[in-house]
Amino acid sequence: VINSDASAAEAHRDGPFPREGECNIDDPFFNRYKRSIVKDKNIGPGTLKGVHIPTPKNLDEFVVDREAALVLGKALFWDMQVGSDGVQACASCHYSAGADPRTQGQVSAGGKTFNDQVVALQELSASTFPLNKPRDVTDRGFGLLSSVDDVVGSQGVVPGVFNKSPEGHGETTGVRRVTQRNTPSVINSVLYHRNFWDGRAEAIFNGVNHSGLRDRKALLPRLVGGNTVTLVQVRIPDASLASLAVAPIVDTVEMSFEGRTTSDIGRSLMKRTPLARQLVDPTDSVLGQYSAAPAQGLHPDITYEKLIKQAFVANWWAARTDLYRDEHGFSQIERNFSLFFGLAIREYLATLVSDDAKIDQHFDGLAKGQPGLLNEAEQRGAKVFEQNACQDCHNGPEFAGSVYRTVVTGFENPKVSPSFQHPEEVERMTTSDCGVRIYDQGFYNIGVRPFDEDLGLGAMDDYGNPLSAARILTSRPQDIKSKELLSDSYPNLGEKGLVKPFRIGEPTAVLGTFKIPSLRNVALTAPYFHTGGYATLEQVVQFYNRGGDYRDYISEDGISQLSMIDLGVGKLGLTEREIADLVSFLETFTDERVVNQEAPFDHPEIFVPHGVGPSADGPVQTFVHIPAVGAAGGKPITLFSPQQTVNPALIPEPLGAKPTNGIAITR
Ligand code: HEC
Ligand code: HEC
Repeated sequence: VINSDASAAEAHRDGPFPREGECNIDDPFFNRYKRSIVKDKNIGPGTLKGVHIPTPKNLDEFVVDREAALVLGKALFWDMQVGSDGVQACASCHYSAGADPRTQGQVSAGGKTFNDQVVALQELSASTFPLNKPRDVTDRGFGLLSSVDDVVGSQGVVPGVFNKSPEGHGETTGVRRVTQRNTPSVINSVLYHRNFWDGRAEAIFNGVNHSGLRDRKALLPRLVGGNTVTLVQVRIPDASLASLAVAPIVDTVEMSFEGRTTSDIGRSLMKRTPLARQLVDPTDSVLGQYSAAPAQGLHPDITYEKLIKQAFVANWWAARTDLYRDEHGFSQIERNFSLFFGLAIREYLATLVSDDAKIDQHFDGLAKGQPGLLNEAEQRGAKVFEQNACQDCHNGPEFAGSVYRTVVTGFENPKVSPSFQHPEEVERMTTSDCGVRIYDQGFYNIGVRPFDEDLGLGAMDDYGNPLSAARILTSRPQDIKSKELLSDSYPNLGEKGLVKPFRIGEPTAVLGTFKIPSLRNVALTAPYFHTGGYATLEQVVQFYNRGGDYRDYISEDGISQLSMIDLGVGKLGLTEREIADLVSFLETFTDERVVNQEAPFDHPEIFVPHGVGPSADGPVQTFVHIPAVGAAGGKPITLFSPQQTVNPALIPEPLGAKPTNGIAITR
């Protein structure tokens, strides 16, 4: 939060500012110090209408028909044919307010003593939350009553080995795997510069995987002049959602059996009718005109191949097989499926922007001279949000960090001093041990868990480079393996001459840091944090109120979590009423179109795996049926709602024993 120049902080140390290690973050002095700096810099809540939605500037080199790409993207996102098991779609984990409200089979192991089968099938109970139970919710000083390192994630596929059949299936055993982080909402994710909790989905899409410039070997065949095919490097900026999308489809926890590649997926889908076994509402805002309703899927004469050819530039798919086949025998259109999949999904997710919440209507009205819409409790909550550093991190109309406005485009705001309107990816902050460290703007450690359980942005990539831009900038160039990373620009105020330039070897604060998630629709997307360890907004606010749970953690090799935590996170001393007001304010970030699944949040039918139920032949997979919804919306979405006690009777009945569309039931 704090863009302090190292020298400014040094100067403070000669005054009343304590020396390194002597810092008491609960001291009101720090709060004053912090706020005086931050006030200048961050813009507070506002309307999302009119906020820039990034579009890759070289999109024309790839996409000829964005409308067709959108149809393709929405179909692919919801289509159960995409997963190795013929069940698992992107939407299986992102079907409710873009996130996952399921309560059974959602726990993944953190610790060493863990029985996969038992925990994976466990039904979550309300009393499980929060996963860390403080002795006193208002004061972390009394320590934790219990601490659980498991994560509430999302169930993916059962482990299996891909058998190269065109059906995309293989042998499977066991129960569904579970992701090791909680599933964030896909709604508004287009506003982030980098995606995933740890930012590993790169802003620059290389057409092949999530690694952007890091993977120097990512090449795609391009047809040149009608009869030559050359392998080229693809660089598509401002496309982190495209980078992201190509990760889950081949992930062996989320959607794939071992050994399945994006080309295998392309081959298996190419001749298929999109959504062949799911109903599509004829009034669906994107797919409706192609719906085969009352039959399932899109019109039988539409195939994925046709949509790809309509949406994408021919150079990427038209090579005859006598001109091009890769070493595994894949044709150009199959080999380039990752490019099509990523860009099509990006096109769809870019439409999922929720800019019509009460908070938007409030600010839109004020701008037109109308009275505000917030009631008294919400107005008081807005003050609590402003005065307790919430808005310094959950910044601006996005209520998020690492967004385009702050990292890429910069912004104009008369209330913010011009020097801070510059875009910035890397900056300095004062950490809770009074150190001054460099970090990636928008990524923080707030003390949810010991940092060495999940390093977040502090981890290395698959090629031996740090994920963090701050660490790339402070590393010796010879230590960066993917050299192209060094020529990428990392906007920062040092570069603009506003603070001291960053030095090689300068300390960083990136271990255990995670992207600041948007608070838009946050009332709909429990459970919270990267661990999914908090079930209600009250629990989250209480966490902040006591200054976090693992602030004082020191790792075995002596690294203190304090040195990663922003000075802005400390005991807040909120009253019960302030906590309730703050929660009421957070609830004004809910867009009712998301609740009612109105366009653009309408969607095809989907059957989502949810736990296991009894049958004559032993336990079988049970499914939740999510009906198709048209543009005008439907029933309100289901929210995450674990029951108070674990009661076997609460395990959902197998829905009509099995889905009506003939999906194989797996154990
Ligand atoms: C098995 C459940 C599961 C499936 C299937 C799945 N996701 Fe996710 N998704 C997750 C989890 C868990 C995360 C967080 C992972 C992380 O950050 O490391 C995530 C993160 C995301 C995000 C990041 C949002 C943000 O704030 O950074 C987007 C966007 C997304 N998924 C889209 C997709 C798409 C597109 C697909 C299909 C290609 C997909 N997901 C399939 C569970 C799933
Ligand atoms: C120093 C930056 C910072 C400050 C200050 C801050 N947050 Fe956060 N917030 C984060 C980060 C980072 C996460 C994700 C942490 C994680 O999962 O490890 C988060 C997560 C959340 C979540 C969970 C969202 C989700 O989808 O899981 C809520 C709710 C939230 N913050 C509300 C608040 C409120 C209310 C305040 C003020 C009392 C506040 N935050 C202050 C950085 C901050």
